[in-house]
Amino acid sequence: MRVAVITGGCDGIGAEIARQLASRDGAGIALVLAARDRDKLEQVAGQCTALGAQALAVPTDVGDQAQCRHLIDAAVARFGRIDVLINNARRSAHALFEDVPDLGWYEELMRINLWGSVWCTQAALPQLKASQGRIVAVSSLAGLIGVPGRTAYSASKFAMTGFFEALRAELKSTGVSVTIAYPGVVDTRIRYRGFNALGQEMGSSGLREEGAMTVGECARSIVAGMEGRKREVVMTGKGKPGRFLKLIAPGLVEKMALAALKDDVRPH
Ligand SMILES: NC(=O)c1ccc[n+]([C@@H]2O[C@H](COP(=O)([O-])OP(=O)(O)OC[C@H]3O[C@@H](n4cnc5c(N)ncnc54)[C@H](OP(=O)(O)O)[C@@H]3O)[C@@H](O)[C@H]2O)c1
Repeated sequence: MRVAVITGGCDGIGAEIARQLASRDGAGIALVLAARDRDKLEQVAGQCTALGAQALAVPTDVGDQAQCRHLIDAAVARFGRIDVLINNARRSAHALFEDVPDLGWYEELMRINLWGSVWCTQAALPQLKASQGRIVAVSSLAGLIGVPGRTAYSASKFAMTGFFEALRAELKSTGVSVTIAYPGVVDTRIRYRGFNALGQEMGSSGLREEGAMTVGECARSIVAGMEGRKREVVMTGKGKPGRFLKLIAPGLVEKMALAALKDDVRPH
């Protein structure tokens, strides 16, 4: 039986990955789900067990190193191994840099988005090496292209890209693969729950949401990339060419990034 640890497993893309793995592998998989909301975690764990998988809900704040270690210890104590670690838990944010009076929440975002992944990966690495397992880092197109209004979020996602690219090369001889996923706009509540300039929950999205990818499609792409041990999964018709276009026409890419913002959150 394979054991997969999924952070941010109580909602959105993480929960959907859990359900897809449970539906596909049934009794062949155990899912260890981590997030802060215990009730939502138990709900998703229940959906996975109804699909035939084993599931364990471990309430975790990945912004706390001790809780990341506890998550991995709990997975090993219950199932004895770890084959997959999906670093997916994240907060979003939307604010123009000059409108932010106190940068405290920039640090908090970095703890969740970057450090949460680093801490979970460090704790799980011995198990992943033993199983020649798979690490997945769910980044964002905002981790390939700086998105206006998203300095904090883009910085955290670029940092993830650097960390996991370097780690992939370090682990090359161990049989552990590292897949970095770069979704575009996906139809979840992440932006509504993200930080605004004052570090409060936004309550609305600053991006144009029309044409967002479905959660199901996004999760399927990530699972396929993980199973194929792909280096990267770059999503959307604009995202794939966008990273190359940035090298030859960076001004055009900046215009495209600005066009993704709603008018009321454009730079003044
Ligand atoms: N949706 C998009 O358009 C989009 C685009 C590009 C990349 N992504 C990336 O995809 C991943 C999943 O996003 P999503 O859209 O599925 O978001 P979502 O629906 O808001 O889910 C986020 C998950 O992360 C958990 N989480 C947040 N803060 C946490 C913390 N401190 N500790 C532990 N868990 C925490 C949340 O649970 P709790 O709040 O209960 O902790 C929830 O389970 C993220 O890495 C995101 O950056 C999303």
